[in-house]
Amino acid sequence: MKKKWWQEAVVYEIYCKSFCDSNGDGIGDLRGVMSKLSVLRDLGVNCIWFTPIYTSPQVDNGYDVADYRNIDPAYGTIEDFKELLEMAHAMGIRVIMDMVLNHSSDEHPWFIESRKSKDNPYRNYYIWQPPKADGSAPNNWGSYFREGNGSAWEFDETTGEYYLHQYSIKMPDLNWEYEPLRREIYDMLHWWIDLGVDGFRLDVFTRFKKPAGFPDTQKTPDPKLDRNGFVVDGAMCTNVEGIHEILHELYTEVFGPRESMTVGEGAGVSHHNALDYCCASRGEVDMVYHFDLAYRGRYVISNELFRKVQKGWAEVMHHNAWPVQYLSNHDSARQVSCYGCDSAEYRADSAKLLAVLVHTTPGTPFIYQGEEIGMVNVRYDSIEDYNCRYTLGDYHAMVARGIGSEEALNTVAPRSRDNARTPYQWNSDANAGFTTGTPWIKVNPRYSEINLERDLASEDSIFAFYRELTRMRREDPAILDGDLTFLMEDHDRILMYMRRCARQTLLVIANYCGENTAFEIPSELRENQWTRRISNKKNTEPALNGTRALLPWEVEIYELAR
Ligand code: NOJ
Repeated sequence: MKKKWWQEAVVYEIYCKSFCDSNGDGIGDLRGVMSKLSVLRDLGVNCIWFTPIYTSPQVDNGYDVADYRNIDPAYGTIEDFKELLEMAHAMGIRVIMDMVLNHSSDEHPWFIESRKSKDNPYRNYYIWQPPKADGSAPNNWGSYFREGNGSAWEFDETTGEYYLHQYSIKMPDLNWEYEPLRREIYDMLHWWIDLGVDGFRLDVFTRFKKPAGFPDTQKTPDPKLDRNGFVVDGAMCTNVEGIHEILHELYTEVFGPRESMTVGEGAGVSHHNALDYCCASRGEVDMVYHFDLAYRGRYVISNELFRKVQKGWAEVMHHNAWPVQYLSNHDSARQVSCYGCDSAEYRADSAKLLAVLVHTTPGTPFIYQGEEIGMVNVRYDSIEDYNCRYTLGDYHAMVARGIGSEEALNTVAPRSRDNARTPYQWNSDANAGFTTGTPWIKVNPRYSEINLERDLASEDSIFAFYRELTRMRREDPAILDGDLTFLMEDHDRILMYMRRCARQTLLVIANYCGENTAFEIPSELRENQWTRRISNKKNTEPALNGTRALLPWEVEIYELAR
């Protein structure tokens, strides 16, 4: 069956603030992105996803939108965006926008109106509740960012009611029950599509619907982080009954008729319930990216987990749904630091191994900026250098609990989203070539060792390896169409799988650990002729017979001779 463009795509996520600064103000911008588009084209990227670039007070780096129809002045103008769109399209690169529709900024004109009075026409654009009899918050929900006293409800003096904010106090939740709000959103989405954008990434789209009556959560508080009886429980507002009606309406009003691609950020979605959202016949979203593998705070992906998740999603595919493959994004730490090894010795090899896992499993691969040059986690010395709301909220909650500042920092640093948000490392000039000014967040000190210029100068680089993988996606049918079969399923170091379609069979072998590993080649492979297509080790002999020993983080792709 003919594939949709997004099934054949290689998506590259741009965190504009940290990508490339063209005017020396320390903040990445659209002109900076334009100046680097050809690098992405050469990498084999044919779709870019912009994290939010709309006008915003930047409390959560743009996930707090104050004007859904404009570009934040720090990034440029709507005219710049149109130029970028044209330029990208001319290079064969599609552009998708991050749409944040669960909440807005409290500086959005809708909220400014909404809080003015109970009978303001915009009152119901947000979720307001009266206090309990004793004046306290409507329930015990905690907010993810753990600001203030930890509650997900903020009292507003003017009208004497609380508004809901699952995230920051400055990010009130929108009220999807209210039709006039939904209409505004549909109009705004049509406006972006008219402008020429090719699709949308939907921020926390499983959380639009809230449970009737806003019941307390019964979840046990996290003793380190939850405060004052307010408990963070994602389950309360995730996958709530009625969410599918909301999404289906969105689809029928906008995405379906306009054939606009959507990828939802699937908090609470795994291969078990994915079909409820992204089975094509449901008319909700095209793809969902899940947290079954990559997850903030997960530092190891066992082979067992990898096989289980990939098999689960391969099964989902048989029911007319299409997976996303990725291992990190702007909300996680750097994949090579978490799931590979970021030492000078093994960084490149393990980054390449992880890339193979993402680009040779079924679905659409998403690359997060900097991953293609093996950017690594950062460790700042002081909490003052951090910006991520989770990091700050968790840190201050711990300190308030009496945990020492050093211990608190050691706990939050490895999982901080700032690991992924340090400026892109273009070269070994000051500030890694990201800006001529002072970067909004400190550059990773390893930039002289890890940067694009170095990678471009070497045929063996991580960047060159990614380019090979994106080429395979274009040229090797098994990558797009092949089914997935694991071999050596009980091995806790070797990952081995086949991708097989009528025209081609590929075999991936990965020693997913930092040790030498010897193993017996399965007998069914020995009877055939295999050609090694890709390897991340230079001087090893391709061999698929008898006993094989792989070096730490060694990965290979073979093709079956026909
Ligand atoms: C998910 C986004 O990816 C994250 O960066 C943001 O903080 C939250 N949603 C809230 O919008």
